[in-house]
Amino acid sequence: MVLETERLILRELVIDDWQAIHLYAADADLVKFMEWGPNSEDDTKAYVQHIISTQGQTPRKVYEVAITLKGDGSLIGVCGLHLEEHSQASLGYCLNRTFWGRGFATEAAYSLCQYGLCEIHLHRIFATCRPENTASARVMEKLGMKKEGTLREHFYAKGKWQNSFMYSVLADEFTE
Ligand SMILES: CC(C)(COP(=O)(O)OP(=O)(O)OC[C@H]1O[C@@H](n2cnc3c(N)ncnc32)[C@H](O)[C@@H]1OP(=O)(O)O)[C@@H](O)C(=O)NCCC(=O)NCCS
Repeated sequence: MVLETERLILRELVIDDWQAIHLYAADADLVKFMEWGPNSEDDTKAYVQHIISTQGQTPRKVYEVAITLKGDGSLIGVCGLHLEEHSQASLGYCLNRTFWGRGFATEAAYSLCQYGLCEIHLHRIFATCRPENTASARVMEKLGMKKEGTLREHFYAKGKWQNSFMYSVLADEFTE
């Protein structure tokens, strides 16, 4: 699967992507709001191998793709849709901090939501973020997602029970 936006190409991950991903996946401060990380090199290689192993699944459940710059093709992050029952999927994204604040996460996630809702006919896409992750919440708002509320201490990671804001968009709300 390949998606093209104004400034980006979203493409399937390949094994050689692990080094560009590791640049941010090993950054303890960058991943402080994620369930995973900071990664060892083996963690990042295993993650990329796992995603590649999902690409040929039928029916496909995981659309986790590289976010690359149109100009030089460099990988600046990853975003993904993970399909669940009832035509729903969770959305996630993570970018190298060098590229933050330029609208790239929103541009990539918008394209993936468009693909999910309009091409594979999902009914609902949801995303969660830690309440302190203002940048991620802002991306969800810019995508047109609505805040549903707070999930209270719904998973344990990094030494404590974590709360999350839950956002979602429904197919008939999504503006192309
Ligand atoms: C969240 C993340 C993907 C955003 O990427 P990005 O490319 O910078 O996002 P965008 O530029 O599309 O939008 C970010 C928005 O958040 C805003 N923002 C960023 N930091 C902020 C802060 N500390 N307080 C308030 N707003 C903030 C930006 O101003 C921008 O909004 P605007 O366009 O209205 O000005 C990036 O910060 C990241 O990879 N973080 C680490 C991984 C992560 O947390 N992923 C999400 C897990 S839920």
